[in-house]
Parts: sequence; structure tokens; C-alpha cells
Amino acid sequence: MKGVILAGGLGTRLYPLTKVTNKHLLPVYNKPMIYYPIETMVRAGIRDLLLVTGGNDAGHFLRLLGNGKGFGLQHISYAYQEGEGGIADALGLAEHFCDGDQLCVILGDNIIEKDITKAANDFRQQPSGAKLLLKEIPDPERFGVPVFEGNRIIRIEEKPKQPRSNYAVTGIYFYDATVFEIVRTLKPSSRGELEITDVNNAYIERGDMTWEVLEGWWTDAGTLDSLLLAGQLVGKASRTSSSSRGR
Ligand code: DAU
Repeated sequence: MKGVILAGGLGTRLYPLTKVTNKHLLPVYNKPMIYYPIETMVRAGIRDLLLVTGGNDAGHFLRLLGNGKGFGLQHISYAYQEGEGGIADALGLAEHFCDGDQLCVILGDNIIEKDITKAANDFRQQPSGAKLLLKEIPDPERFGVPVFEGNRIIRIEEKPKQPRSNYAVTGIYFYDATVFEIVRTLKPSSRGELEITDVNNAYIERGDMTWEVLEGWWTDAGTLDSLLLAGQLVGKASRTSSSSRGR
């Protein structure tokens, strides 16, 4: 399985912090934001990675991450997204890199406490389709929200005013290589972007979507409040682990 981290977009919700740098280079506690999804990939045994980014500061990623060896990666590739065409538009740039393999896709502003090894291993056994990771949260209306019929997801609604469940669709996705055929069929949404939720709904319509609940805390870091929360959660986790090491 190969890994794709999507770190494009303009980060306008964090303006002016993102006026002269890319959102994913901002600090979250003691590391740049982009370190966290890379570490999540490596912990799940994914060592061949594509980073998709854009904007004026794309070159900074090369200076920061180099050839990826410092993270335990075998290989890191880079792709450049022109403009802000949406998450699915950024994913479309990974087709050549994917070369028919399964993919784990993580949004560059998604930070988790634990790891996704079990979900990745389960998906390695899945013959086709996609897998979502869900998390129960108090404010699902900020995210993609699954609608359930029993245990089955019948569709995902993007930022619904009245969420039909208490779960968010996290920005960690597993796809087979047919995802690129789906991306090619997408039309821009009302916010002018190719939506990852439309990709996921296409798999649901095909009856080829599985899901698991993510363990431990999860947050995005794409708004001022969630960036602050992410720093607090990471700081608390790192203090807990250093005090238990000291015992
Ligand atoms: O965090 C999970 C949520 O992420 C999901 O629940 C939603 O279904 C999904 O649409 C997405 O919602 P956001 O509105 O929070 O996504 P945002 O526009 O903040 O983009 C998230 C990341 O995706 C961003 O850190 C970088 C990447 N991205 C985004 C855009 C718009 C790109 O690489 N290119 C883009 O054009």
C-alpha cells in the first residue's frame, strides 16, 4: 500500500497565519503540522509516500522533509496542485504514483493520538473498494457525516446543518486504484471544489465501502480553534509519555 498526504489548499481559515507560509508548515506543539500525518503513515508500515502541495511555499516542504529518510520513509515524491480545486482534485494528481496499488490518503491537517495499523492491515485484505475511519464527536456539522441504516453507511453528507449521526468522517481514507476513475467523473460543488465526500458516496453507491471507528483522539488543525486544540492535545500526550518514561 502506498501513502498520499494532501497538503494543498490556501488555508484561508487561518489567515493571516497562512499569508506567507503553507498551513501544514505551522507549528502544532513542538513540530510542523505535516510531521504528524507522515508519522501516522510510517507507524502503519507505509513507507512509499506522495506529498501533494501547492501555493507559493511548496519549496519549503523539500527543505523540511528532504528525501524522507529521517522519518523512516523509503521514498518520498512530491506533486504540485495548481489553485485550490478541492481535496479530490489534489488526490487526482496521485494517479501516476499509485500505479495500480492500494492507497492510504491522509489530509495534511489531520492529527491522531493512536495509530491506524489495524485499519491498514484490514484494508490490505479487502479485495476492492474503500474504507473510512469514523470518530464520534460533539460537533459533527463541521465535517463529512455518515448516515446509517443499521450498521451500513447509506451516504455521507458534507457539513450538514442537522447531522444524522454523531460521527465525523475523518480525513484518513483507504482506496483501491479505481478511485481515479471516480475522480474523473466529479463535478465541482457549490464551493467550486471537487469533494472527497462525492468520491466516498460513489463507493457507497457501488456497495464497496467499509468503515471502522478510529481509536484515541482525532482532530483537524485547519481553524484557529482546532489548531489550538491540536497543540494542547499533542502537548498533553507528550508530557504524559515523558512522565511515564521518567518513572
Ligand atoms: O478533516 C476531515 C474533513 O476534511 C472531512 O470530514 C470532510 O468530509 C472533508 O471535506 C474535509 O473537510 P474540510 O472542509 O475541513 O477540508 P479542508 O478544505 O480544510 O481541507 C483539508 C485538507 O485537504 C487541507 O489541510 C489540505 C487538503 N487540501 C484541501 C483543498 C481544498 C488540498 O490538498 N487541496 C485542496 O484544494
